Amino acid sequence: MVIAVDGPAASGKGTIAKALASHYGLPHLDTGALYRAVALSIIRAGDDPADAEGAARHARMFGDDLLHDPDIRSRRTGAVASVVSAHGRVRDTLLARQRAFAAQPGGAVLDGRDIGTVIAPDAAAKLFVTAGIDERARRRTAELAARGHDAELEAVKTDLIARDERDRDRDVAPLRPAPGATILDTTALGIEDAVAAAIEAVEAARGEA
Ligand code: DC
Repeated sequence: MVIAVDGPAASGKGTIAKALASHYGLPHLDTGALYRAVALSIIRAGDDPADAEGAARHARMFGDDLLHDPDIRSRRTGAVASVVSAHGRVRDTLLARQRAFAAQPGGAVLDGRDIGTVIAPDAAAKLFVTAGIDERARRRTAELAARGHDAELEAVKTDLIARDERDRDRDVAPLRPAPGATILDTTALGIEDAVAAAIEAVEAARGEA
């Protein structure tokens, strides 16, 4: 069973995807980490994120250690990730790896922006996780602070709005709910309730399949 979890930054999709993976005993891939690793590779090399060909080269060659580097969670890396993820060549380079993860025999949970639309359009269950901008800014600020990154609520909110716009308005694989996705608004939900609602949605989707 493949479960696709998409949604904007700090919507709760990562937390929900991890909880679903543990509930169903499936491997989980945070696909945003791939784009963040490409971004960090570019930042460390001092290269230009706007250069699509150069960014694609980083997407082909970045070391897997970057996926676990704490710096992929910084505000700057997130902003650069949003820029590099708009390049079709970068997305093409990362596609095979994500499809291979989704094709594991027992299934998998993947979270990102285009899992239900591009990476795994045949997923058994598709969730689109959202939350209001103020709540997302509050969550991301707390998450950054907990990781020791600088975090000022208004600046984080401004970043999120800019990233939402870039992720939604890009030509390739823009952020939007996949056809048939269940929309899960977590604004007023605590983690437990959000996870319970996600499991319910997955069960409902399985029932329909
Ligand atoms: O989910 P995140 O904040 O870690 O994602 C970082 C950036 O990567 C985000 O701005 C959009 C991009 N991204 C994407 O385009 N497609 C994905 N499947 C996952 C992330």
